[in-house]
Amino acid sequence: MLLGVNIDHVATLRNARGGVEPDVISAALICEANGGTSITTHLREDRRHIKDEDVYTLIKTIKTKLNLEMAMADDIQKIALEIKPHSICLVPEKRQEITTEGGLDVAGQLDRVRGFIKPLLDAGIIVSLFIDPDEAQVKASAKTGAQFIEMHTGSYSEAFGTDREQEEFLKLKNSAQLAQSLGLTVNAGHGLNYKNVHRMHEIEGLYELNIGHSIISRAVFTGLPEAVSKMAELIK
Ligand code: PXP
Repeated sequence: MLLGVNIDHVATLRNARGGVEPDVISAALICEANGGTSITTHLREDRRHIKDEDVYTLIKTIKTKLNLEMAMADDIQKIALEIKPHSICLVPEKRQEITTEGGLDVAGQLDRVRGFIKPLLDAGIIVSLFIDPDEAQVKASAKTGAQFIEMHTGSYSEAFGTDREQEEFLKLKNSAQLAQSLGLTVNAGHGLNYKNVHRMHEIEGLYELNIGHSIISRAVFTGLPEAVSKMAELIK
């Protein structure tokens, strides 16, 4: 499995003081140098962490792949078409949420998703859809033209170590199998940490995990190189 490191929280910390530290670009380069195989970042409509200039600099600076998370917003689509990241991951977005709370409802807006991703696909950008591990959402995703899904692991992560863990885990495993049988490549992420990530090895064929909060949190104590390399080691 590959490790995409989400660096949004570095920008959150920087923005807390409105200055330039900690530098997001340096963080991305450290992630790459320590086992991160792509850099993931969410350009939110409210620009609460990552800002346009970060994305424009990242695309010119990083050596691995940029995975741009974005909502179905025309202005962000325009930026994606301009910078052409390796991939985009379409996520739902609510202004007041602390983080992305649920998966994208692809089944409920199939035509809208199809129409929105078409120019991105036509531009050669890989498209991933961030969905809950749910049969209807997987089946709908396979009808959009997107090549990837990213399964929302939030419920699994919350249930880890409780009676509900296995039930949530099986949703991920079954959804991954279904998606792969429909020709999709499967990523996963959200809420994964150093304790719960090992079960992702039980899901055959998972391609990449996108992990942010636990890595940046650990980095406060151990430094970013150790935090990234430790996670990379766990998911290899
Ligand atoms: N994948 C997606 C689509 C996300 O929105 C997020 C959170 O920004 C992540 C992965 C990473 O989640 P976490 O920060 O909990 O590791």
